[in-house]
Amino acid sequence: MMDSKDLEAEIHPLKNEDGKLQENLENQTKKEESLKSSPLQSRLSRCRTAAFFLSLFICLLGVFVISFIIPCPDQPASQGPWRINYDTAVTYDFLATEDINRDRVQDVLFLYKNTNSSNNFNRSCASEGFSSPCTFVAAVSGANGSILWERPAAQDVALVECAIPQPRDSGASSACILMGRLGSFIAVNSFTGETLWNHPSSFGGNASILSPLLQVPDLDADGTPDLLVLTQKEKEVNGYIYSGSTGHQIGHQDSLCEDGTSGSLLFVTRAGAHYILLPCASSLCGQSVKGLYEKVTGRDSQLRRDPYWEDMLNTTTHKLLLHSSGGIRYLMNVPGKGGEHLLLVSSEACVLLDGQELAPIWTFSAAQVLRKPILGHYTPDTLAVVIENGTGIDRQMLFLDLNTGVVLWIQALPGLPGDPQSASLPTADHRSAFFFWGLHELVGANQMEPREAHHSLYMFHPTLPNVLLELANISANIVAFQVALFEPGRHAACILLTGPAGPDAPGLVSVAKHKVQDLILSSRVVRLAEGGPDSDQAIRDRLSRLRYRSTA
Ligand SMILES: *[C@@H]1O[C@H](CO)[C@@H](O)[C@H](O)[C@H]1NC(C)=O
Ligand SMILES: *[C@@H]1O[C@H](CO)[C@@H](O)[C@H](O)[C@H]1NC(C)=O
Ligand SMILES: *[C@@H]1O[C@H](CO)[C@@H](O)[C@H](O)[C@H]1NC(C)=O
Ligand SMILES: *[C@@H]1O[C@H](CO)[C@@H](O)[C@H](O)[C@H]1NC(C)=O
Ligand SMILES: *[C@@H]1O[C@H](CO)[C@@H](O)[C@H](O)[C@H]1NC(C)=O
Ligand SMILES: *[C@@H]1O[C@H](CO)[C@@H](O)[C@H](O)[C@H]1NC(C)=O
Ligand SMILES: *[C@@H]1O[C@H](CO)[C@@H](O)[C@H](O)[C@H]1NC(C)=O
Repeated sequence: MMDSKDLEAEIHPLKNEDGKLQENLENQTKKEESLKSSPLQSRLSRCRTAAFFLSLFICLLGVFVISFIIPCPDQPASQGPWRINYDTAVTYDFLATEDINRDRVQDVLFLYKNTNSSNNFNRSCASEGFSSPCTFVAAVSGANGSILWERPAAQDVALVECAIPQPRDSGASSACILMGRLGSFIAVNSFTGETLWNHPSSFGGNASILSPLLQVPDLDADGTPDLLVLTQKEKEVNGYIYSGSTGHQIGHQDSLCEDGTSGSLLFVTRAGAHYILLPCASSLCGQSVKGLYEKVTGRDSQLRRDPYWEDMLNTTTHKLLLHSSGGIRYLMNVPGKGGEHLLLVSSEACVLLDGQELAPIWTFSAAQVLRKPILGHYTPDTLAVVIENGTGIDRQMLFLDLNTGVVLWIQALPGLPGDPQSASLPTADHRSAFFFWGLHELVGANQMEPREAHHSLYMFHPTLPNVLLELANISANIVAFQVALFEPGRHAACILLTGPAGPDAPGLVSVAKHKVQDLILSSRVVRLAEGGPDSDQAIRDRLSRLRYRSTA
């Protein structure tokens, strides 16, 4: 049982508290009076106040020092734009990015052909056994454009591929592999430019090398992917397998098919079997990597064949039975549900083929596609294929839903001969930003000499479907263009490689990096429809706040 006092306290809790509060206040006033009366006590309190402010000051100073004076080591400072020039040189359609100096900012690799390298680096063409001029590989710091290394690597390059993984014990984690037109085959350490291996290649004279250089699964059991080079001599396409770690040829070469062209790819079926596919006139040629390896070496391989695909492939011609017609122009692997699908662009249509049965999922035949499509996200997390319908003044950009082939967005955007390929970069909102080259203003386009016309770079983001931003315009001949995320989660930048149009007339070669954000702030807003609620500045501000994701 509770006694009556507790009960009262429960019924009138505040009354009781009030009483206590009153008592406390009275006590405190009495104490303060007694404090005032003692000078020692008051000096003590002043000391306490001083100590309090002193410690507060020290704390604030600490915060200030940590946040402003001591630089944060984890945030690499990507400095502004840069440009490097080479006089009297020519360049190649090749750009790669990789963090070479380990400052967490992507660095840039490119090729140029020159008599001497521009720098104080003492390696000339002759010191590497080439006649002058020869082809140099250069690696440039993405942060400030300083040259990290450059070296002569071939007399004249036919094929180049960087970021090829290397075995641990080689001392290099990745390599750039260059195949020269005159039969040289060299791997250089991406981080230092030193030679990893260098052999003559084994192709006979007059064979032309088909791009790209394919990486196939490890066949010689050295822990690194191996390389497959396709060459064409007269009509015949031959396959050569090389070890990715030593560059030695594995087995002899073998014929893959007839009438093949560049644009081959490696396709993995749902059963996990690897197939080499390449366009052969109006059909596709294919062969399993296992089949090719077993034929060139006479040994068994651990890789698989796909029984379904073997039935579809003609064993004598290696041709796949396809339901499409017209000459095949491009072939792309695209992600699909449960595995890869195959996107095929022919002179008649764009067709998405199921990755297992190769049956068409959709066919889009209302466009003439003369450039390789790109992929990107128009709606969040759903891939779209961006195709160009026609060329020149009549070009249209079309976004098709990858799953259904339905048109999502269509925009006329006249192009110029020599415009670089479009690009896309995923943004943090699970869409993508798209970068197109073209000529927005039609006025005067007909009269302009293509050489003198300005190539304009446009940016498009699907959250503003009626706006294009003209980021830049360039009158020089553009050899290669790339948009990349330079630091994880931060800046996107574009790299532009400009130079002479042909190999016979050396001129100014220049590599430049521009931050996309800076370009947006100085861009011109192009409205594709009348009106719109936002001012130009509001649109620029909105797009400059976009955050990008890495492609992986
Ligand atoms: C290239 O370098 C060599 C030796 O450093 C020099 O003699 C030659 O004049 C240079 N050539 C050019 C075109 O700069
Ligand atoms: C380049 O210079 C370095 C030292 O500066 C020297 O060790 C090396 O032998 C030189 N190479 C050539 C090809 O002259
Ligand atoms: C560029 O940055 C590197 C570090 O990434 C530094 O060593 C070099 O001195 C810088 N060069 C210039 C010209 O600022
Ligand atoms: C290369 O082609 C030319 C003419 O087409 C021919 O004369 C020459 O013998 C060929 N060389 C080889 C190695 O086949
Ligand atoms: C393979 O193709 C050749 C030439 O087109 C043809 O004669 C042969 O019948 C085909 N083989 C099969 C199994 O379809
Ligand atoms: C593609 O271009 C052609 C010729 O300009 C035109 O007839 C056709 O309608 C275009 N396709 C689409 C889907 O707009
Ligand atoms: C190129 O861009 C500049 C500013 O960036 C602009 O003043 C100029 O009009 C543009 N030229 C063309 C041909 O679009």
